[in-house]
Amino acid sequence: MILIIDFGSQFNQLIARRVREAQVYCQIEPPTILVEKIRDLQPRGIILSGGPSSIYEENSPRVDPAIFELNIPVLGICYGLQFMVDALGGEVQKATKREYGFAEFTTDSDSGLFDKVKKVSQCWMSHGDSIVKAPAGFEIIGSTDNTRIAAVTHAGKKLFGLQFHPEVHHTPEGRRMLRNFLFTVCNCKQTWTMKSFAKTAVAQVRETVGDKKVILGLSGGVDSSVAAVLIHQAIGQKLTCIFVDNGVMRKNETAKLKQVLKQHLHINIRFVSAKQKFLLALKGISDPERKRKIIGKIFMDVFEAEAKKIKGAEFLAQGTLYPDVIESVSAFGGPTAVIKSHHNVGGLPKKMKLKLVEPLKFLFKDEVRLLGKALGLPDELIWRQPFPGPGLAIRIIGEVTAKRLSILREVDAVLLEEIKAGGYYKKLWQSFAVLLPLKSVGVMGDKRTYENIVALRAVTSKDAMTADWAKLPHALLGRISNRIINEVTGVNRVVYDISSKPPSTIEWE
Ligand code: XMP
Repeated sequence: MILIIDFGSQFNQLIARRVREAQVYCQIEPPTILVEKIRDLQPRGIILSGGPSSIYEENSPRVDPAIFELNIPVLGICYGLQFMVDALGGEVQKATKREYGFAEFTTDSDSGLFDKVKKVSQCWMSHGDSIVKAPAGFEIIGSTDNTRIAAVTHAGKKLFGLQFHPEVHHTPEGRRMLRNFLFTVCNCKQTWTMKSFAKTAVAQVRETVGDKKVILGLSGGVDSSVAAVLIHQAIGQKLTCIFVDNGVMRKNETAKLKQVLKQHLHINIRFVSAKQKFLLALKGISDPERKRKIIGKIFMDVFEAEAKKIKGAEFLAQGTLYPDVIESVSAFGGPTAVIKSHHNVGGLPKKMKLKLVEPLKFLFKDEVRLLGKALGLPDELIWRQPFPGPGLAIRIIGEVTAKRLSILREVDAVLLEEIKAGGYYKKLWQSFAVLLPLKSVGVMGDKRTYENIVALRAVTSKDAMTADWAKLPHALLGRISNRIINEVTGVNRVVYDISSKPPSTIEWE
């Protein structure tokens, strides 16, 4: 495994992704990690990430410099390099010229880190500090116009440093440099595959849980479905899943889930229909945050009541992913402003005195999809676009009623059918419809209509933090609009949302 020390760079997860793509397992830890723990982890190599701080600032993050004495290869990136230089007796100063963006990197080294790397290539810089003196024993192995010391190494100790970011795709040779670090320098083996992960994870769940019972909240999304299949393989019928039908799901959602997970994979699932409870609580409510809170609260109550019926359960399983874990332990990730209160089950384990099982907590989303495939889940479940916990309730602007839900469900079904038929479903992060609290005049069969307007939303995104509106072909948009207006009673106008995130958000509420 490779250990990545998190100095707070926004690109940290990208470093981890690159390592995992090369089929090497890696783990991200804060700089406060103890050297003893590093020894226990036995990494083949350590990567020191970039970060927003300056090394000469008071309280700049530092990891115990004893890591340089462990006889483990180290690669410092940007701030990580500056930390290494400072810790080993070199000198870092504020650069006369900040360097941000593309630069031409030149190296005359062609071994180790730069094995088969082009002598001149483009790299991506983002730094205000520079190295003015490398520590004793180090040699300079690359520069850019602005940065004389852009790459260094201490060959004897297998220490390397890059001032630029090899993990971003703006550094085309970066991937090769990282692979060289993994395979040429650290001698890593490509053992990280989802097949091997599944085997270990199943064994681990079995060991943790023993012969106790586990409860899992199934949402219908990829993460909880994959977690369910994995735990089911480990403990079979000792796993009980609870699926709460909150009445704000898409068309045929419950039926599809029943078919795949219950009938096909024989997972033990309790379907709780609580539609009326949710609808009643949402009556007369149009404020988005109140809708979210109400749905979250009722979900917890219904889930808890159902879970109590499962006697002797000691564990609660969740499909938590690695990005959530990293965010919660990140040394610098302070609390971010609440834009929307996301609906989750975070409070449940404490309230119900259950122990947590989180078999996916070291995986990224795309790895979860590969794992799902390795576990035999059908594509239909693996390639689902994200769907928010509060469901269609936050896609109906204004009050949520049974009538409005039924209109939106039909619209949504047509939209998805066309998006899938056009081959766009997997290419888009999300595609959905929003029912507006507005009516407009239309004409149908020579008659005046006065009906609802729906907005279509389709976005591309890597992680939902930012998103761009999708440039769908006009012909496809036209087909979707025609079909919606012709097939769904109650809609006479369709508009397309052309806003990106930020400043808009993906969902409308
Ligand atoms: P926004 O609208 O904030 O959404 O740009 C970002 C991503 O999060 C999803 N989303 C949710 N997911 N519970 C969820 O599980 C929620 O309450 C929730 N609200 C938004 C949204 O669909 C998008 O993918």
